[in-house]
Amino acid sequence: MSFAKTKHAVEEGDTVIIYVNPQAMYAIQVKPLIATKKGDMVENIFQTAYGALKVQELVGKKFGHKVQFSRGWGYLLHPTPELWTLNLLHRTQILYTPDISLIVMQLDLKAGSIVVESGTGSGSLSHAIIRAIAPTGHLHTFDFHQQRVEIVTKEFIDHGLETFVTAKQRDACKDGFDLEDTADAVFLDLPNPWLAISHAVKALKNSGGRICTFSPCIEQTQKTCEALVAKGFKCIETMECLQREFQVKNITLPDVDDYNFSFSQTTDKDSEGNGKKEGRKFRALLPALQMAGHTGYLTFATWPRQSSVQI
Ligand SMILES: C[S@@+](CC[C@H](N)C(=O)[O-])C[C@H]1O[C@@H](n2cnc3c(N)ncnc32)[C@H](O)[C@@H]1O
Repeated sequence: MSFAKTKHAVEEGDTVIIYVNPQAMYAIQVKPLIATKKGDMVENIFQTAYGALKVQELVGKKFGHKVQFSRGWGYLLHPTPELWTLNLLHRTQILYTPDISLIVMQLDLKAGSIVVESGTGSGSLSHAIIRAIAPTGHLHTFDFHQQRVEIVTKEFIDHGLETFVTAKQRDACKDGFDLEDTADAVFLDLPNPWLAISHAVKALKNSGGRICTFSPCIEQTQKTCEALVAKGFKCIETMECLQREFQVKNITLPDVDDYNFSFSQTTDKDSEGNGKKEGRKFRALLPALQMAGHTGYLTFATWPRQSSVQI
């Protein structure tokens, strides 16, 4: 239940993150017994790359502290939507934190917001939306895949989030959402989001709101933009979120002659009698040569206040 509120120590039933290093993190639910493949209940012992961890021994341990495995140790971390995104079981492609941060900001999500989401997928975005809108808002999330709805519903309950979210099985393109004049924001991560735009209009508040669609291909985005224009959305913008990291490196650059703006490099002779290139050493901040590339196009738009609504 540890997603719902920040706490200092682990209680039975909590989902916790065991952090070994950036490539080795595990989300574990703290319960004394676990079912084997045959269905027998046995002591819950979690295997890491550094040996076994007796899960029940985490109860009472403080978040942020070290935990011992049989052949090493890790840190016990409080769960967050960001850590959950990195550790959840993938049932589908998921959205990652750089895109999620832009979505939450551009949809203007805050405590009290009512949000419609489809498809739910693996619930990666859902966790971040819930944190942004709790404790007074609500997320209505829809997926046409029954098993995904069941799994994510169990996760919401395990994480103590069930009062902030309703997950339903529904085809968002065919049947829309069972909501009218309700949502402050709609988010669509579907193969054909343009088919759900008219349903989004119905779900959005007549007093106005925001919509976002995520599509990997520009052709999908073009169709969605046409549907948004046709329905009367305003301020339609498409963007992609690329995270470029910088690295601190020691580099050597040739000296520049301040007056002639030319390089003056050849000073000494090296052992073979050639001009030796002397340069000045710098500690420099350089863009990383590799970065995560395109994930998808995020299209945002505003649903304007309808004339029927009194100011
Ligand atoms: C890429 S996943 C969404 C991932 C999600 N945003 C996340 O961060 O975990 C797309 C989901 O949309 C669902 N889906 C596809 N078409 C749908 C439709 N017409 N109505 C409802 N759900 C649909 C799929 O079952 C799938 O679970």
